[in-house]
Parts: sequence; structure tokens; C-alpha cells
Amino acid sequence: MPADLEQLEASALADLAASDSAAGVEAWRVAYLGRSGKVTGLLRSIAQVPTEDRRAFGSAANALKDRLEDAFGQRLEEIRQAELRRAATEQRLDVTLPGRPYPRGRLHPITQTLREITAAFAGMGFTVAEGPEIESDYYNFEALRMPKGHPARDMWDTLWIDSGEAEPTTLLRTHTSPNQIRVMEAQQPPVRAIVPGKVYRYEATDATHEWHFYQVEGFAVDRNISMAELKGTLAEFARRMFGSKRKVRFRCDYFPFVEPGAEMSIDCFACDGRGCRVCKETGWIEILGAGMIHPEILDRVGYGSEEYTGFAFGMGVERITMLRHGIEDIRHFYQNDLRFLQQF
Ligand code: DAH
Repeated sequence: MPADLEQLEASALADLAASDSAAGVEAWRVAYLGRSGKVTGLLRSIAQVPTEDRRAFGSAANALKDRLEDAFGQRLEEIRQAELRRAATEQRLDVTLPGRPYPRGRLHPITQTLREITAAFAGMGFTVAEGPEIESDYYNFEALRMPKGHPARDMWDTLWIDSGEAEPTTLLRTHTSPNQIRVMEAQQPPVRAIVPGKVYRYEATDATHEWHFYQVEGFAVDRNISMAELKGTLAEFARRMFGSKRKVRFRCDYFPFVEPGAEMSIDCFACDGRGCRVCKETGWIEILGAGMIHPEILDRVGYGSEEYTGFAFGMGVERITMLRHGIEDIRHFYQNDLRFLQQF
């Protein structure tokens, strides 16, 4: 092989060995084997070679080109393998490392209780409805048999929206009972519904009073609904919420929208009725108000009290949550103290 070919091969191979990236090797290919590369130029210069040497020169140059192409292919492969190995070590995942703990969110205790109450009644065929928090005097009081000036209005200290008016008509609902009227106006009997929601009272806060809290209203209207349905449904609810052996007690109470009206207590789940701190030594815990829907209300919504009867009930969600978890101050629920909330 002519000396200049030998020299070219030696320097080409040295350059190639010195290239250590895919891009570097590609630049080498262009410099030697590309269209205006050194080897290509050599092959083109064959015209200047004396005729008798041309054959030998040509085959030597072609053989050189083949060897360099092989060397290029090999080097490229070496570099690809090295890059793969580097990626495999640098980007290695250790799947045996313990996971990083993420702080876990949870449902607010009131949401949890709301869902349990809802599930208990849904399982007995009640649907779930909602109503507005900004309510009219009509639905909050009037339609529930409390015309203006009725003394029973004082059972609820009211936050009026338009208190500046001579005759305010708009308020923050003081209870969820207005939704009895709203649902009955929208639906024909038979109807069984509960209405969970937030209510507001113009009230100084203390350990057992908040100015806003949750209630669940419920009612059922059909032909032949009697006090027995009321008792059976609410006793079953108490057992679903507070344990299968709970006893219930009904006593007379007054609410203008029911006749007769009642309050329901359960025997204390903390002491089984013997008397303790939770039941204030009485053995009983009051958990809701209830009664048979007043016939005037059924007539007002067009149901017809000759044909239909119904029962209704309402309960405070914070109170039930406090009882179940032994929480002593209602204000804990809305202070967003994680030390409190994380316990549920
Ligand atoms: N709305 C009443 C309250 O806020 C609770 C209540 C009592 C609802 C008796 C009823 C009922 O549906 O029949 O104190």
C-alpha cells in the first residue's frame, strides 16, 4: 500500500479512537468518508496516478475505505453501548427504597357524620334533596305555621339579610325545615326525603352553640303514614348510627309545624343508660325533634290532609358528632386546628 494511504489510515484510526460521542463519530465520518471527505478525495485523485499504478492504488484505496467504514460502525456501536451503560447507572431506580410518605387528607368529622346519616336513611328508601341557605321569611317561618309576630319564631334567633328594611323578608335559614315545603311543592306524594344542610343563628358562641352548624331534615308523606312509621324509622336510624342495641324514648315536645310533636332520645351509648358524664347522669341523650306533619302544611302544598299524612324530623349534626366522639366544645369543628381534625 502506498505510504500516504498508510499514513491516512493511521491518522483516521487515531482520530476515530479519540471521538467519544455519537456526534463526534458522525463528524469523523463526514471528515473522512463524506462526499468531500479525505478518503473520497483520495479516490477522486486517481486520475493523477500514473497509469501502471492505478489499478493497485485503486484497490488499495477502496480497501482502505472499506476498513474505515467497518471501524466507524464498530466505534459507533461501542459508543452507543457506553451511553446505555452510563444511563443505566445514572438514572437507576432503586425499587427497594421505602416510599416517601405523603401527608394524607381526610374528610372533616362533620362530613363523615353527614355521610353516615345520609347512608342510614338512603338505606331506608329516602332520597336526598338540598335547598338555599339564603331563604325567605315565607319558607323559613310562614309556611311552617309561624306568621309574623308568632311567638314560636323566638325559638330561632334569626340573622336577617335585609335587616335595614322596615319589613325584612330575607334571612339565613335558621333550620332545614323550609325544605319540607320546597320538596313537597316540587314533588307529588308519596315522598321520602332527607335534606342535609347548613343553618345559621344569631347567637353568641359557647361550648354548645355555634352561629352556624349543620342539620339534617327528613320527612315522609304517603297514605296511611302513622306515628308508628315515625317511631320505627327513627328507632332504626338510631340503631344504624349508635349501635344495634340502642333503646329509644319519645316525649312530647312543641314545634309549630308538627302535631303531635316529639323529641327522641336514645339510651346512653357510653354507659348503657346507667348514668355518666355523656348523658349528664340521666341515662338518656336527646338526639332529634320530630312529629306528624301538621295537616295545614299538607293542605298548603296541595297534598290534601284528608288523603295524606306524614312525619318529619330534624337533627343537629355537630351535636351527634360530639356525642359519638366525646367532643366537649362545638367550636373545635370550625377552627381548622389540624391537631383536632387529624384525630378523625
Ligand atoms: N327545625 C327544628 C329545629 O331547628 C327541628 C325539627 C323539629 C324539625 C321537629 C322537624 C320536626 O322536622 O318535626 O329545631
